[in-house]
Amino acid sequence: MGKISLESIVEAVNDLPALPQVVVQVIKLTEDPDSTAQDINYILNQDQAITARVLKMANSAFYGFPRRIGSVTDAIILLGFRTLRSIVMAASVSDILNKEIEGYALEYGELWRHSQCAAMAARLIARKSKFAFLDLAYTAALLHDIGKVILNNTMKETYREVVALVNEESISFIEAENKILGFNHAEVGARVADKWNLPPETVEAIQLHHSPEEAQVNPRLTAIVHLADAICVSMGIGMGIDGLLYPMSGEAMQLLGLDELEIENVISELVDVFADQQIFELK
Ligand SMILES: [Fe+2]
Ligand SMILES: [Fe+2]
Repeated sequence: MGKISLESIVEAVNDLPALPQVVVQVIKLTEDPDSTAQDINYILNQDQAITARVLKMANSAFYGFPRRIGSVTDAIILLGFRTLRSIVMAASVSDILNKEIEGYALEYGELWRHSQCAAMAARLIARKSKFAFLDLAYTAALLHDIGKVILNNTMKETYREVVALVNEESISFIEAENKILGFNHAEVGARVADKWNLPPETVEAIQLHHSPEEAQVNPRLTAIVHLADAICVSMGIGMGIDGLLYPMSGEAMQLLGLDELEIENVISELVDVFADQQIFELK
């Protein structure tokens, strides 16, 4: 049996780097109605690496702008404050998510690809189900599996027991985690989101992405993140992450008023976007 307690994991969460200052400042600015595009431009210009990633993402096929977005100011005008904020978040957590998650038997970058896939799927589902906050859906889905980074770093040995159990009993990863550790990556991820002062509904969506029926704060957001995750697993993006056994919640689909056909449409839109593999590259 594993000897790691949730408490020691929480300590590891405290060791996790804080959100980069530039993101914290961008979040603040985008919440202030008096901010201008110039204010955000000024902050982002202090971090050229993040700015370059932000522009690359803003120019990806996902947002589909016919002309090149050449500057942060352009990006704000064309995409809006909220979308820019969610892209800045993605650009800055990519390093954390792009690590090799050896414990989870993932190839280099697979968690990042899975997270990006889920973020984009969530945005598409949010639009289809008329959920007003596309950026909230994007960010929650982007971070849904971040608990795995922590677990990987703190439980390498114990993890082998989890994998063995998944293989022996063909149960899902989360069930195996619960059985062996007594907690799971979704709970750990919620602690991270909480530490980063993300809104309670985001914390909940991360915590309950494998059991969306339990959501109370914002059940629709949690349903979106769950479906986005399941869609990416079904596309084979992140199979090593949540395993093959991943039931898509019928209740979540119902809550969002989506049928199978609409889920298929989301998948084919994503297939088109991912035809350009560059979308997952960071440089
Ligand atoms: Fe997960
Ligand atoms: Fe996932």
